[in-house]
Amino acid sequence: MSSSENSDQKTFYVTTPIYYVNGRPHIGHAYTSIAADTLARWNKAMGRGAWMLTGTDEHGQKVFEAANKRGISPLEHIEDMLVHWKGLLPMISVENSDFIRTTEPRHTRVVQAVLQKLYDEGDIYADHYEGWYSTAAERFWTEKDLVDGKCPDTGQPVEWIKEKNWFFRMSKYAPQLAQWIDDHPDFIRPVSRRNEVLGAMKKGVGDLCITRPKTRMSWGIELPFDREYVTYVWFDALLNYITAIGYHPDPAQCAPTFSQHWPADYQLVGKDILTTHSIYWSTMLFALGLEPAHCLYAHGWWTVKGGKMSKSVGNVLDPALLVRNYGVDAVRYFLLREIPFGGDGDFDHEGFLLRYNADLANDLGNLAHRALSMTGKWLGGVVPELDENTDLDDALEAQAAESWAAYQAAMDGAQFHSALQAAFDLVGAANKYIDSTAPWALNKAGDTVRLAGVMRRCLEVCRVAAALLSPVCPAKADELARKLGQDGVQWTALDTLRALPAGTAVEAGEPLFPRLQELPEEIQALVAAAAPPPAPPKKSKNQLKREKKAAEAAAKAAAAAAAAGPIEFSDFAKVQIKVGTVTAAEPHPQADRLLVLTVDLGEDQPRTIVAGLAQTFSADALMGRQVLVVANLAPRKLRGVESQGMVLAIGGDDGIVALAASSAPVAPGTPVR
Ligand code: ME8
Ligand code: MG
Repeated sequence: MSSSENSDQKTFYVTTPIYYVNGRPHIGHAYTSIAADTLARWNKAMGRGAWMLTGTDEHGQKVFEAANKRGISPLEHIEDMLVHWKGLLPMISVENSDFIRTTEPRHTRVVQAVLQKLYDEGDIYADHYEGWYSTAAERFWTEKDLVDGKCPDTGQPVEWIKEKNWFFRMSKYAPQLAQWIDDHPDFIRPVSRRNEVLGAMKKGVGDLCITRPKTRMSWGIELPFDREYVTYVWFDALLNYITAIGYHPDPAQCAPTFSQHWPADYQLVGKDILTTHSIYWSTMLFALGLEPAHCLYAHGWWTVKGGKMSKSVGNVLDPALLVRNYGVDAVRYFLLREIPFGGDGDFDHEGFLLRYNADLANDLGNLAHRALSMTGKWLGGVVPELDENTDLDDALEAQAAESWAAYQAAMDGAQFHSALQAAFDLVGAANKYIDSTAPWALNKAGDTVRLAGVMRRCLEVCRVAAALLSPVCPAKADELARKLGQDGVQWTALDTLRALPAGTAVEAGEPLFPRLQELPEEIQALVAAAAPPPAPPKKSKNQLKREKKAAEAAAKAAAAAAAAGPIEFSDFAKVQIKVGTVTAAEPHPQADRLLVLTVDLGEDQPRTIVAGLAQTFSADALMGRQVLVVANLAPRKLRGVESQGMVLAIGGDDGIVALAASSAPVAPGTPVR
């Protein structure tokens, strides 16, 4: 992955947090990595070189305990989890330059050297630490933090611990940090976060306990000057940003790559870890005589239905699910376009569909399709010649220049949503330009020169749009550039509409972002499973009577058919079986063996189905389950409740033992053949 650096020039350096390896990646982690990758791609495109670092945080109590629980070593446990973290990156088209793990010798060796240096210089000292310790949260609390005498984070019991520990003189560097923040208004962004940090610092910056006694927790980097202690996970983890690029406190051992990269241009983090990065990390750097990054950017939080993603709630958004259903470039686009970088956002599939269709399928898709197919139909499928600019053409070209200027400023400032907005301002202008120049009319009138000029400018806008989109949607942008006969995206002449070589063959081909008529089936099934159950439909007495008669007739017919022996295929083919999702279930008011189910078959109204399942399943156990339903059975009343279909179950005369079911979640209404 790493390539050797051969210039003394400073390269653009961007980092993501190193993620705790103990969980699995979700869309929040993917978000930070996609943002960092986009910045790296942009800077590479601008010829500034780019180095992007990501990795995993592998020490600490949680990993230690999880491994213990499984009866394996921490490293074995980590190896299992690492597959998901490393696999995430290519899946979301992140081209990181390096991947650091805090258990690697290149890291642990330098962390120890840093500890030794700070100890030698008197910035690390021993003291006694006393406080309420929560094993579950892996931290100390003060008396007033506790809730009902328990850990406020986990609700678990705490114990009073007094122990020797080692401390970093963070307070000593607090004035320098305050001054730095003052002198560098763009150091902590967005500005709301800068104010938050300044506010926190006003309350006072103490020293930082940076060790854990091995007797309590041994999974960490050993202190070089006290073998009985390991380094606190944050002190260890933060240093990854410089250990990975070859830092060593001894100048003779410090690799040249260090000064090529450091100070980082951007350190991207979520707002959850702003304090550790702004206060702990900056003061650590000052203690080492180093400068902090040019910009520490704390972005916002993705939620699902307004709630935090959590395994126990079952609302964790898996990046693989999104990529599989929507395509990686559309997912990257949505994440960066939907909310300003720094703000919070709620992920909603319907919202995704709207933006996908509006921006990618309609605006961009229509422009590319119209430009390429009209060129194909009327101009021999090659880039046509320009004609003299009219006012309309001038305006379009001015929009290109304006978009390009706005785009550059936005990308340099990590304002992805504004950068994409600038690109789509140009796309929108080009769609309007097509409408007002009416190339179909020019074609009809045989005005080939003007037709050529108009189509040429539309193709040029596609060229510019491909470049502007490419840091965010690299594959689709490349595809678009190739349709225009280019050898991939070119980063030249983006403020003009006069760069495509006339005569080059172009090709419309397949749409870049095909319109999504509805949510993909896999997503629909998930959304349906998460939806609250709708109320069963109410029916009039007369209606119920009619339906009862029909049900009795159907039952007779079924009995007759059953008596008739083997059936023809054509008979079997009359039976419509569909997958349904149980959205409500309750015991039948008059019959112990029966349950009354509300089943979503993907129709306007859910159906009420009475099923003889009560001896095997509780009503609750069926909630949310997918079942196979005979969907065209005539309705039939069972002990006073009309059943609008039949649930297929498995079992002989002794009773039901299982449900017939789909082996994977599918959209309600999917036929069974
Ligand atoms: O904190 N929305 O690791 P971590 C947006 N190991 N971003 C999110 C997110 C969400 N819902 N959830 C997670 C750690 N993130 C430490 C970091 S660095 C020296 C050590 C992203 O696995 C966001 O970038 O808990 C957040 O800061 C990070 O993942 C936390 O990852
Ligand atoms: Mg976290």
